[in-house]
Amino acid sequence: MNSKYETHEHDVLIIGAGGAGLRAAIEALSQGANVGVVCKSLLGKAHTVMAEGGIAAAMANVDAADDWRAHFRDTMRGGKFLNNWRMAQLHAQEAPDRVRELEQWGALFDRTEDGRILQRAFGGHSFKRLCHVGDRTGLEMIRTLQDRGVQMGFDVYMECTTTRLLMDGGRVAGAFAYWRENGRFVVFKAKAVVLATGGIGKAWPITSNSWEYTGDGMALAYEAGAELLDMEFVQFHPTGMVWPPGVQGLLVTEAVRGEGGILTNKNGERFMEKYDPKRMELSTRDVVARAIYTEVREGRGTEHGGAFLDISHKPAEYVKRKLPSMYHQFRELADVDITAGPMEVGPTCHYMMGGVRVDAETAATSIAGLFAAGEVAAGLHGANRLGGNSLSDLLVFGRRAGLGAVEFAKQQAVPAVDSTQIEEAERAMLAPFERNTDENPYSVHSDLQQIMQILVGIYRTEEDLNSAMEGLARLKERVQRLSINGSRMFNPGWHLCADLKSMLTVSEAVTRSALARKESRGAHSRIDYPNLDAAWGKQNNIISLHGDQMNLEQRPTRELLADLQALLADEKGAGA
Ligand code: FUM
Repeated sequence: MNSKYETHEHDVLIIGAGGAGLRAAIEALSQGANVGVVCKSLLGKAHTVMAEGGIAAAMANVDAADDWRAHFRDTMRGGKFLNNWRMAQLHAQEAPDRVRELEQWGALFDRTEDGRILQRAFGGHSFKRLCHVGDRTGLEMIRTLQDRGVQMGFDVYMECTTTRLLMDGGRVAGAFAYWRENGRFVVFKAKAVVLATGGIGKAWPITSNSWEYTGDGMALAYEAGAELLDMEFVQFHPTGMVWPPGVQGLLVTEAVRGEGGILTNKNGERFMEKYDPKRMELSTRDVVARAIYTEVREGRGTEHGGAFLDISHKPAEYVKRKLPSMYHQFRELADVDITAGPMEVGPTCHYMMGGVRVDAETAATSIAGLFAAGEVAAGLHGANRLGGNSLSDLLVFGRRAGLGAVEFAKQQAVPAVDSTQIEEAERAMLAPFERNTDENPYSVHSDLQQIMQILVGIYRTEEDLNSAMEGLARLKERVQRLSINGSRMFNPGWHLCADLKSMLTVSEAVTRSALARKESRGAHSRIDYPNLDAAWGKQNNIISLHGDQMNLEQRPTRELLADLQALLADEKGAGA
């Protein structure tokens, strides 16, 4: 075994360079910390760009009646009141400042006639609240944060995958990683670590996520002893492309519906009338995804198994200006002109509401020195996230995580990392080269995706979830036998071996939690328990590692403050 590795040392190490990681880095830099940013992919290539339609913030530029209280209420209502209410409060209160700051740093938002940031409608938001840049908002945000962070001067380690957090007793001490290009190992020592690695979309075959999203941060935190919260809540965005097969799952932004797009089935019926006659296409994502799924399952789907989404009643120039990426995406990938006719769309796995349990104020996890922000962290969105709340989430809590990490780092000496941990991490990575079996990572990944799509999808039953647990147990055994040929240079099969370990851990956490929650709430729909259950409305599912076993327990949610309770007084199901 080649035990040579390079070592880097930082006050704050940030793992993941999407919006949350970059915002955390900027905050830590501005507090004078020495910051390293590690990313699995190229800098700027992050799932943040898939939040296309806008950032939710109660700026009240278009609808003067909007304010943080309304945003808080919508977020709680969308999350079926399982949200960490303090996160929802901070998020709604701070989002407008984070947007203004982004603008000062150079983000070029679309404007109102009188020159303010333009806001559009989105599902579940009771006012026009989404600040946007056409349908490329996430991209503009990443560009802005990246420019600022690079100017401020963090060290960036691109195409570098983290496989283990290193510990100094009960405190995090850094991370072990490898360069994807040449397979060489890297040890990062750090006083504080921020996880900002995003979600786990790649455990499902139909997804808006790209190859990086394999649940790494959730698995790293879990293995280090942190708690995972409400992992059953997986968001299926209602509108992904369904045709042609090579682009199945690619996101069709909710901004199409925000700009007036209409959903119909193959009989031309505007079916949302049946599912949410009040909000129609601007219902929440869980409701619209289930509606499309149901239409298809009951035989009213389109030729390729989706629904029609039509914006062609709007002037062509308007569509091209407001939805330029969608126009080009359909033109180039599906040979469809969306200014002249409908798109075909269907649900696609998009986002994880569950994740690492964090403190609302500091984004601290239950492990000393370990922080988490963005999709990898849980709490803000409860049982279902509203569109556009992801971008504001990662600005608000990315900043708080950066601050929390610096505050922690200031009080610490450089941690010690014993070589045993590093040797173990090396051995685990190299094991697939030393085996000679016919088990290959691609077939395990494909089998995992089938299990998650068929048995842990939009609708769930006890029987399916039990079958999924059995299937995952078999896959865990197969992962122990994975064998890889060739060298450590440019070896994607080897990379997938590491990713599979994370995906299996997180998939098991999702399935276990889904089995436990015997009710339907938000994105978690149990056919065998179709209703909200008041008792479950006050329980979080907590996953943690006990010995080498995954443990699941229920813990009561925190009592809502009285003044916030008053804001939700009229809500049906608040507290249910
Ligand atoms: O549809 C979209 O533009 C996605 C937004 C989001 O996930 O927040």
